[in-house]
Amino acid sequence: MSSERPSQASLDRARAGWDAAYRDGRPPWDIDRAQPAFLRLADAGEMTPPVLDCGCGTGEHAMMLAQRGVEVLGVDLAPTAIAAARRKAGERGIAATFEVANALDLGALGRTFATILDSGVFHVFNDADRARYVASLGRALRPGGTLHLACFSERTPGPGGPRRVTRDELRAAFSDGWHVERIDEARFEVRGAGTHPHAWLATITRA
Ligand SMILES: C[S@@+](CC[C@H](N)C(=O)[O-])C[C@H]1O[C@@H](n2cnc3c(N)ncnc32)[C@H](O)[C@@H]1O
Repeated sequence: MSSERPSQASLDRARAGWDAAYRDGRPPWDIDRAQPAFLRLADAGEMTPPVLDCGCGTGEHAMMLAQRGVEVLGVDLAPTAIAAARRKAGERGIAATFEVANALDLGALGRTFATILDSGVFHVFNDADRARYVASLGRALRPGGTLHLACFSERTPGPGGPRRVTRDELRAAFSDGWHVERIDEARFEVRGAGTHPHAWLATITRA
């Protein structure tokens, strides 16, 4: 069944791969500030606490929310990313908390959230893990809670970067037990790129 847990070996491989992205330099998505799309949502009061920043990387979205007084937890599979997030929060005097955790097993956190923020995580998973991820999100989000998700869209040309996602794929992934409120056009800001990749910014509530 697609929502069964992946093996420990595949989880270890994934952790090592993501951790290397942070240890071996600075990945293109690590822009040292929040993505503008999520800043706008925060400014519009659409980040009801408590918030989970799922796959938080080095923690910019969680810190942006904590600075606004929003209770937030950032989690990521990569220990190096979490160490960097904690260091940056300490240096900036920001009270955001961070944990190493698996987005495919958010039930293990033992708590639920009113809002989940996903900046560039949904699009990293293959089909089987995508289904596991949606099930995992469903365990961590309170009924009536909101998921704000930004992923690469099929409008980004070229072979590089993460897999592209269409609006129909988003609707299909969240067809059971969810309500897709809106899917808006957005852009990811990335380091070292002349143009910023097209994204979908989806707002999805848990039934
Ligand atoms: C494209 S990066 C985005 C990071 C961050 N959200 C940002 O906007 O800077 C994808 C992130 O997902 C994390 N990730 C990948 N698989 C994960 C998993 N199974 N559980 C938790 N985090 C995961 C990676 O370590 C990486 O930090």
